[in-house]
Amino acid sequence: MANLNGQTLDARQSGTFKIGGDLEVTRLGFGAMRITGPGIWGEPADRDEALRVLRRLPEVGVDFVDTADAYGPDVSENLIAEALAPYHKLVVTTKGANTRQGPDRWAAVGRPEYLRQCVLMSLRRLKLEQHPLWQLHRIDPNVPRDEQFGALREMQNEGLIRHLGLSEVSVEEVQAAQQHFQVTTVQNMYNLVTRKSEAVLEYCEAQGIGFIPWAPLAFGDLARPGSLLDGLALQYGAAPSQITLAWILQRSPVMLPIPGTSRVKHLEENVAAASLTLSDQDFQALDEQGRSLSA
Ligand SMILES: NC(=O)c1ccc[n+]([C@@H]2O[C@H](COP(=O)([O-])OP(=O)(O)OC[C@H]3O[C@@H](n4cnc5c(N)ncnc54)[C@H](OP(=O)(O)O)[C@@H]3O)[C@@H](O)[C@H]2O)c1
Repeated sequence: MANLNGQTLDARQSGTFKIGGDLEVTRLGFGAMRITGPGIWGEPADRDEALRVLRRLPEVGVDFVDTADAYGPDVSENLIAEALAPYHKLVVTTKGANTRQGPDRWAAVGRPEYLRQCVLMSLRRLKLEQHPLWQLHRIDPNVPRDEQFGALREMQNEGLIRHLGLSEVSVEEVQAAQQHFQVTTVQNMYNLVTRKSEAVLEYCEAQGIGFIPWAPLAFGDLARPGSLLDGLALQYGAAPSQITLAWILQRSPVMLPIPGTSRVKHLEENVAAASLTLSDQDFQALDEQGRSLSA
């Protein structure tokens, strides 16, 4: 594996997790929402760099990529297929049920016939026969949730989906879904200073469910100088992004962070965090500081 200014560049240093007990992935993954245009709408400003980011993933040991049909829409899935299909050992997980009406505009639609369209169209764009993991981007509040969960179970029974996950859910919603299928992952917003999903994380840990924290860098705020991470960054000779990713990986063995970026330089910086371990004392102090700042 390559080096980055003397740091090891190998995501596999973060260890592995078995989704659903049998789909093994490296814990430090990649979020592919940022390889789109402003407002997660349209093509990225630098398409060639987006393709370079994607092609660099297997070279630096990343084998878990998160996307959604709504990113672009379609743009992120299409770029992933162009850069990386056929995927060999790479697990590409997508999400569906969020419709788009323009930049930064999202609306959940969970009618069973639309969920089926999402699943089938993503298979086509990603050039897959079966989704290794398909996540319900949002539960549609206007459709009975049992209908949504039932439709997903049906498609799993048909072999279109291997494992199922949820996104932005409470413990009670995970339990409701568990009446219909094995919930293998939960993807909620979570980072050092955004801790509203602690109870969900604890439930996932107890149940062996993978927890995918989105916005692990707080949309880039925790990757810039000037945050609570500055002191430890200096102490460890690391970038702030690396300190916060090391913290999140140490927070729980079911944690599967998916930092997003449109640049190879940032991807490499983030991947190098897999080789960084905070001392127990530094981990605890940072953890407490982050909790106290969480809204
Ligand atoms: N389930 C959901 O509802 C949901 C919602 C949002 C996101 N997600 C998923 O979660 C993933 C991660 O979330 P996110 O992308 O919104 O936020 P994030 O990972 O917290 O931060 C991404 C931002 O940080 C910047 N960045 C990344 N690495 C950096 C570095 N080393 N130094 C400086 N800046 C850096 C990126 O800009 P550059 O491009 O310039 O590097 C980008 O603007 C997404 O890609 C997506 O797959 C899921």
